[in-house]
Amino acid sequence: MTYYETVKETAAWIAERMPSHPTTAIVLGTGLGRLAEEIEISLAIDYKDIPNFPVSTVEGHHGRLLFGRLGKTEILAMEGRFHYYEGYNMREITLPVRVMKELGIDTYFVSNAAGGTKPGFKVGDLMLITDHINFIPEHPLRGENYPGGPRFPDMSQPYDHALLDKARAIAKEKGIRVVEGTYLATQGPTFETPAEYRMFRYFGADAVGMSTVPEVIVARHMGMRCFGISVITDVGVDGEIVEVSHEEVQRAADAVQPLMAEIMREMIQP
Ligand code: HPA
Repeated sequence: MTYYETVKETAAWIAERMPSHPTTAIVLGTGLGRLAEEIEISLAIDYKDIPNFPVSTVEGHHGRLLFGRLGKTEILAMEGRFHYYEGYNMREITLPVRVMKELGIDTYFVSNAAGGTKPGFKVGDLMLITDHINFIPEHPLRGENYPGGPRFPDMSQPYDHALLDKARAIAKEKGIRVVEGTYLATQGPTFETPAEYRMFRYFGADAVGMSTVPEVIVARHMGMRCFGISVITDVGVDGEIVEVSHEEVQRAADAVQPLMAEIMREMIQP
């Protein structure tokens, strides 16, 4: 079976079961997991039951595809995503995005946790992702071009300007402090050495993490509009670097979860 056929088969399996036809998808990454509790879920499918779907292996990342309503909007939510460091290849990691497109999704929302490399960023800051740097060695579009998208996709606006404006307005109205910046994705699973944080800063990164970029590249390849927020869970700035663990990342992300959820909830309303 070709990759395209695999995507089609997976989408057809889901389409037979899905109770609604959302156009909005949201990836409940680190810092947004609890938003799932607010979704009026009409159908939850374990990743392990979906043909061809990878299964998430990281603690703190569940593995369910959810259909339901958040506020006024029907959504498709991914509870947990797939990372390169888990051992998947790029096609596996981005399969859900290809499948979503088949299911009618046109707008892709993501959250993640990241280390802040911009001086002044603090633990708990919410960073609207305005741009990204792909620093993962395997490109998600390498190989035969996937049908429907261009061989050489434009990346001049990876994160949708209108959605960014909407987020700025929401944050202002609700009095939520947000920062903005460029997210750089590494392959992980190590956090950065001080020299690596410094290098990424020189490269133009404001925050560093281990996800999101492959998904957004594939989403853009198919013309989907993208929006993302990083929770700054640790700081990679000279003089401020301290030891970091997955638990601390999780804790820092949990602490600002309500604010992140508030922004995302509003973002997906029409
Ligand atoms: N580096 C990479 N990934 C991360 C970090 C970091 O400092 N914090 C949370 N995810």
